[in-house]
Amino acid sequence: MSKSADVTLDALFAAARQAQRRAYAPYSRFPVGAALRTPGGGVFAGCNVENAAYPQGACAEANAIGAMALAGERRIAEIVVVGDGEALCTPCGGCRQRIREFADSTTRVHVAGPDGLRATFMLEELLPHSFGPDHLPR
Ligand code: THU
Repeated sequence: MSKSADVTLDALFAAARQAQRRAYAPYSRFPVGAALRTPGGGVFAGCNVENAAYPQGACAEANAIGAMALAGERRIAEIVVVGDGEALCTPCGGCRQRIREFADSTTRVHVAGPDGLRATFMLEELLPHSFGPDHLPR
């Protein structure tokens, strides 16, 4: 079995939920957790970290991506985002672009609530006609 197959979607959801519990969200009171898997089976999680200077707050996805980069990893195979409430906690526009940097059009973005996965999108559905690293001349 490949190493990446060792990380189940259940495990990724559990990592995102654990991260959500660490969220620092005193202003919105909307804790979010994210956990991504790399092609090699690495798992990196993040939570939202807000700030009294509101625009300085960071999203869960951004912090999960930061943890991935710090570990020297550069590809997202799939990602789970978990938030509370009834509405789907889809990644914000900025985070769709952040995910785009390390993913491709068919990368799965799973959206979850406290009880589990609610929906799965391909990145292309969330960010159509996107601009990415390939658009820049080298
Ligand atoms: N938030 C995330 O961390 N990720 C998302 O996908 C949606 C929104 C955070 C930002 C802010 O701290 C709080 O949720 C309310 O917008």
